[in-house]
Amino acid sequence: METQAQDILSADRAAEWKRNPYPFFAERRRQGGVFRGPVVDYSRLPESMRPKHVFSALSFDAVNTVFRDGRVFNSSGYDTTIGLFTGRTILAMEGKEHRDHRNLVSAAFKSKSLARWEPEIVRPVCNTLIDEFAGTGETDLVEKFTFEFPTRVISRMLGLPEDDLPMFRLRAIELISYNYDYKQAFEASAALQDYFQLQIDQRKSAPTEDIIGDLVTAEIAGEQLSDEAIYSFLRLLLPAGLETTYRSSGNLLFNLLSRPDQFAAVQADRDLIAAAIEENLRYETPLTSVQRFATVDTELEGVEIPTDSMIDVCIGSANRDEQRWERSEEFDIFRKPIPHISFAAGEHTCLGLHLARMETRVALECLLDRLTNIALVTDDDPHIRGNPFRSPTALPVTFDAIG
Ligand code: HEM
Repeated sequence: METQAQDILSADRAAEWKRNPYPFFAERRRQGGVFRGPVVDYSRLPESMRPKHVFSALSFDAVNTVFRDGRVFNSSGYDTTIGLFTGRTILAMEGKEHRDHRNLVSAAFKSKSLARWEPEIVRPVCNTLIDEFAGTGETDLVEKFTFEFPTRVISRMLGLPEDDLPMFRLRAIELISYNYDYKQAFEASAALQDYFQLQIDQRKSAPTEDIIGDLVTAEIAGEQLSDEAIYSFLRLLLPAGLETTYRSSGNLLFNLLSRPDQFAAVQADRDLIAAAIEENLRYETPLTSVQRFATVDTELEGVEIPTDSMIDVCIGSANRDEQRWERSEEFDIFRKPIPHISFAAGEHTCLGLHLARMETRVALECLLDRLTNIALVTDDDPHIRGNPFRSPTALPVTFDAIG
């Protein structure tokens, strides 16, 4: 079975598979909720970093169980995957250590902060970007909008100088692409460490009211976070907050613009935006899978999983499980709302989920406020691609400016 999965990942079907891995997920899921083999291409990693035993959880129930049972399926193995590049972060912590660290950083992401950030940061960032192309009648919404706004938002939240934006965005993307080029990811990791250390030092001598300023003064049981804990968290936050949000807003625009009837409905009734965002997260999650590691010999949906195995937790497959959703392979903003699992579940549930939803809503609202007759130019076949990260590489559109 492992061979069959790896064939699919490495043969000529690779391009097709990257464009649309969903038929593969569906085919495997129909054979069982769990299978032995990966749903991510690990072939570019050096032998020493490649996982030895990989299983994939595909059904909604299997994915939900893995996320919620942190005792059997924990995250500590991230220390030897993404943790090699971010450093030790809450992503790889468990139990009390995880709770303590997460509590320290989560205050910044609660609804009180969001209420302030929406008018002070997110809306102005989106409108400034739209100002730059509103008069032109055509643009690429990925290049000029979706790729830009989350970086600008997070850099302001962190209190980073605007001029540094291209550098840390490039480095963040290099870091998160460690499966493709791990040497470049190590360089990016070192560059970001130096950069954030400087920001931390500056705030120690002159406190600021931004997230880095908060982290510098934060305490666990009377102890302050070490510089290493702070820059490691920041190295996680950049890719976690940028990649996912820019990709998922691109996916939303693609899914709506390629279904003009649903797009027209949202334009006519802004109350549908929330449902459109959730359906987009279900149907086209920006991150199709994350990993967990078996702490004991166990069994999941009838498949035996030995200790230390890695599990590709396939959110993309779970979100299209036909046992949970009718017409699961259709994008339909009018469907009965049933929670998806794109923000994971259990103790590692996404820390930025409220921010991500707010940013996506505001981005769409700003576009609808400022532009009309938005139409996707289909000449070059714009489409969503990639695995495990998915989004359109371009969204060429024509439009009329309002006012
Ligand atoms: C649509 C956008 C987003 C999606 C789909 C998403 C998805 C996820 C998922 C699946 C996890 C669990 C990872 C795992 O346990 O292996 C996660 C964790 C996390 N996310 Fe997000 N995320 C999004 C946006 C954001 C944003 C905007 C931020 C912050 C600026 C953020 C910060 C984090 C952090 C810090 C964690 C680690 C939580 C922990 O380990 O306790 N995410 N996210």
